[in-house]
Amino acid sequence: MSSVDSQRRVVSGMRPTGSVHIGHYHGVLKNWVKLQHEYECFFFVADWHALTTGFENTENINNHTWDMVIDWLAAGVNPGSANLFIQSRVPEQAELHLLLSMITPISWLERSPAFKEFTEHNSDRERTTYGMLGYPLLQSADVLAYRAGLVPVGADQAPHIELAREIARRFNHMYGSELDFEANAEAAARKLGKKASKLYHQLRFAYNSHGDLDALQTAQALVREQSKMTLGDKERLLGYLEGDSVTILPEPQAVLSGLASRMPGLDGRKMSNTYQNIIPLRAEPGYVEKQIRVMPTDPSRIRLQDPGEPERCPVWQFHQIYSNAEEQSNVAQNCRNASWGCLECKQRVSDAIIAEQAPIRERGKQYEDDLDIIHSIIADGTEKARDAARATLEEVRDAMRLAYR
Ligand code: TRP
Ligand code: SF4
Repeated sequence: MSSVDSQRRVVSGMRPTGSVHIGHYHGVLKNWVKLQHEYECFFFVADWHALTTGFENTENINNHTWDMVIDWLAAGVNPGSANLFIQSRVPEQAELHLLLSMITPISWLERSPAFKEFTEHNSDRERTTYGMLGYPLLQSADVLAYRAGLVPVGADQAPHIELAREIARRFNHMYGSELDFEANAEAAARKLGKKASKLYHQLRFAYNSHGDLDALQTAQALVREQSKMTLGDKERLLGYLEGDSVTILPEPQAVLSGLASRMPGLDGRKMSNTYQNIIPLRAEPGYVEKQIRVMPTDPSRIRLQDPGEPERCPVWQFHQIYSNAEEQSNVAQNCRNASWGCLECKQRVSDAIIAEQAPIRERGKQYEDDLDIIHSIIADGTEKARDAARATLEEVRDAMRLAYR
């Protein structure tokens, strides 16, 4: 049964497929930085995941990987708080992926939106690999190997975390049965004390007899707040609420950023290395200015005196992220009244981006020429990550009767 407090653990990964850009920053990295102080965090370079699309051209993975780690540190990720490592250095994640692949119906993977989208745009069946189909399962294994409760990701990744939840549930149901489970759970319930134990049983009954979800949540909170109880007993009580098995792999939850919509790219499509429409996280100010200056705007604004409509302009999408409410209404008004030119409007966006990036660029400089430090940060993080993943796999093998003792 799970011997870690999953509610305190966070895991997330990023693929080394190109530059870290401001879309990563607003969508994910800021959340990493925020969570690292309050949780035990595991952040990794998802190099295996990069292979799903880049298996033919692997020559850049190495450089992208080290640059990515520098970008994280520049963004404020603190290796003193978070464990930073490379996915492929933790073979336990691959082992868990393999074990989970045995219990994962192909149909669960085929219905993944990312897989559907990929196959729609790639008629070449040779590129639709086994690894591509298994992408979300590998991601599930990444998360479950650490028994993390929280996973900060971009909104497009939420279905993958949902899959991780389903896989965890299936695994626990299949392998989480314990001899004398019911007796052990009842013994644990007695340790709650008379009053709380009675409440626990009432709530459990309410959930099991008529599916009262509020009762389930109240009971879960009741169990979680027990400070003197062992994690094992807590897991028994949590498992007993819903069925007859213990939780070996806790169900994780996605943590999404406040970013209302996806970060737009320079061309108005989603910002992505694939579309080459990105602003790198540590771009030079002159470069940012130039890229914004040549961005397309509302096509009906040809001359200065033509009124524009912000909703038809990708620059407006940047204002929605970088400008406060007052500035936004200012922008919309000046655009619709044709009272300023697009260059003026764009300047404000570049200024805001450049200002946000200044401290990030500065911090990055310290690391750029010191790969030794980066290597040692990764070595330390890998060690911690392996310890955690190894502990999970021992319990997983045990549960599956593959311990051979
Ligand atoms: N698929 C994620 C992305 O493209 C990267 C990733 C791989 C990940 N494994 C993960 C994210 C585990 C969170 C947890 O952004
Ligand atoms: Fe876009 Fe600003 Fe020009 Fe309006 S004024 S079209 S929002 S760049």
